[in-house]
Amino acid sequence: MARDTTGTVEAFVAALPKVELHVHLLGSADLTTVADLARGHPQGEVPTDPEELAAYYEFTNFDHFLDVYVALNRLVTTGESVERLIIGLAETLAADNVRYAEVTVTPLSHLKVGIDPAELADALESGRLAARACGVEIAWIFDVSGDDGLVGAWATLDWILRHQPVGTVAFGLGGPETGVPRAAFHDAFASARAAGLRSVPHAGETTGPGEVLSALTELRADRIGHGIAAADAPRLLAHLAEHDVPLEVCVTSNLRTGAVGSWAEHPLPSLLTAGVPVTLGTDDPGMFGTTLSREYVLCATRLGLDSTELASVTRAGIDAAFCSPATRRALHAELDDALGTVLPEGTTPAPYR
Ligand code: ADE
Ligand code: ZN
Repeated sequence: MARDTTGTVEAFVAALPKVELHVHLLGSADLTTVADLARGHPQGEVPTDPEELAAYYEFTNFDHFLDVYVALNRLVTTGESVERLIIGLAETLAADNVRYAEVTVTPLSHLKVGIDPAELADALESGRLAARACGVEIAWIFDVSGDDGLVGAWATLDWILRHQPVGTVAFGLGGPETGVPRAAFHDAFASARAAGLRSVPHAGETTGPGEVLSALTELRADRIGHGIAAADAPRLLAHLAEHDVPLEVCVTSNLRTGAVGSWAEHPLPSLLTAGVPVTLGTDDPGMFGTTLSREYVLCATRLGLDSTELASVTRAGIDAAFCSPATRRALHAELDDALGTVLPEGTTPAPYR
């Protein structure tokens, strides 16, 4: 019999209409999907059995995680597989009461393994429409992997501008961070911004606060992927809080990749105390075995966030989304409605600490 979760943190989180602003399409693929794709590439190293795949996803460190990510990328060689990933993600998001998602796609990585540029754009649009039919509005963040350098960033921008996928909102920078200074991408981010895209680089995930500062000053970041290293720099924290620059925090990811050593060391509570806008993301939910709701619940049970703090993280996500004003209003209204139901007027939400 299913466990009765009425009145629990799980029920509270399930009732929140959420937004997901930090999820990579490739890393969202569930075990069954990846095992299926691996069967189509028997020469590759990726296991075709979901149980073996779960073991394959035990990462020894961040570089190991990136190696596995690259191996996974080699399995996605057709527009059809891209569309399958989007539909899988949309179904998961819908089941998790996520209404709006900004999904990161790395076009150059897909093009490098042989997907035709127009086929990729078509697959994204078909997937976006299928997601909408599931009740999830998807927007795109197109990023470049740091190891593809500035040349890769220009190639990515060229693909975006040539195909102009509907729903494109931002330009990003992911992949390795060590040895890849954010500042090296200054020119491409300046062009992306001039073309109307917002700036969302990963920074301060596996390096120090200096890269978060570079992301702000050199790439004019509107939001920062992870950015957790800012917790070590009080003036930087004050700047993020004062200028309302949100950090997209992904707690399970940080623990699974070794970016953070333990729950006790996770800086999320310090970021909130400093007044920095924080949104929660899953990063690569298929690879980390998580969902957005699970991330919220872990923030309550492992990091001590109470229901008010969880709701304000959702609200910060709605405020930080690169959506239209009408969508933002609708998302806030839905959240207000849901909070009115789970938190009757006048009640002070009980802490889960
Ligand atoms: N690509 C997918 N997941 C990533 C992460 N956590 N950091 C950088 N690049 C990524
Ligand atoms: Zn990421």
